[in-house]
Amino acid sequence: MTLDDQSEIKRRDLHNARDVLAGFPAQCRDATRLVPSPALPRAKPALVVVAGMGGSAAGGDLLAACAAERSDVPIVVHRGYGLPAIAGDRTLVIAVSYSGNTVETVSAVEVAIARRIPAVALTAGGTLGALAARHGVPLVTLPSGLMPRMALGYLFFPALAAAENVGLQIARADDIADALATVETLAAELGPDRPTATNEAKRLAVAIGTRMPAIYGGPDTGAIAYRWKTDVEENAKTFALAGALPEMSHNEIEAWRAPSAAALHLLLLRDAAEPPEIARRFAILRDLVASAAGGVSESWTRGSSRLARLLSLVYVGQWTSYYLALLRGIDPWSVPLLDELKRRMGPGASSS
Ligand code: F6R
Repeated sequence: MTLDDQSEIKRRDLHNARDVLAGFPAQCRDATRLVPSPALPRAKPALVVVAGMGGSAAGGDLLAACAAERSDVPIVVHRGYGLPAIAGDRTLVIAVSYSGNTVETVSAVEVAIARRIPAVALTAGGTLGALAARHGVPLVTLPSGLMPRMALGYLFFPALAAAENVGLQIARADDIADALATVETLAAELGPDRPTATNEAKRLAVAIGTRMPAIYGGPDTGAIAYRWKTDVEENAKTFALAGALPEMSHNEIEAWRAPSAAALHLLLLRDAAEPPEIARRFAILRDLVASAAGGVSESWTRGSSRLARLLSLVYVGQWTSYYLALLRGIDPWSVPLLDELKRRMGPGASSS
């Protein structure tokens, strides 16, 4: 198919995921107005643990990636049951589950309640919403009806506000304004109406084609590379590989000598603010492995604040994985294996 055929796009995108993606800037703006109720205690924590899985953990990754710039409090993203042993009474647990029925995340809040660790829950309802309400845990109730991975605005901005409430300044008001303006501009450039010739996400999807994307970021965009990988896997239902420089240049780079490298598409996530040594490393990596790869592309951050740069890159990845799904004749919305696994795990496991 051609990605400029609007009727074919509508035929393949059975659940109008395109409208949800186009509405991402409005979702982000709306999300900046959501606050926990009751309010969080004011004490500044020594550690923040964001507990969540899959799309709901992605907000935590973005928070940690933004915090690396100026926060003096470590942020740990916990993907699993319970809480890490390091979580104590000077920890803030931000428990994020869009459905509210993800057993791992619910168990994190149960442990926080049992250990009297301050917590806040971000959810559209489910078991987590009920648990938080029952125990007076501060709760941000999110609008329902989205796929968690397409609700990143709701899963990120209230976590940012919760961190701010307890004295952690991770992004200033002007950083947030820059981020909102940047994704608004991008929305106009990446949607289905914008032809492939001038649409970065369509061009990336076409360039990747049937190859497996190998997505590498730098020190700041490495977390975003992982987000691209999971979006490709869940939306386009195909494998992707993710890594970060400089680490990959100490191990994974050797794998590019394998003949199978020709089946990969090298995709470099570049940051307009990356330090010169990282720019040099990207250039040398490209020089060394580009001829082995099936193809090479780069995608660059937009905007000036760290939040704007990281969020803009996430947004390009969302659209790219969406178009990859359409090119493969796959419905980008539904995740049947994920749902089936949750179903077999039994009651309490969420539907997507
Ligand atoms: C589905 C998705 C998944 C879920 C994950 C946890 O769109 O992105 O990765 O996010 O299965 O479910 P929630 O987010 O409801 O806690």
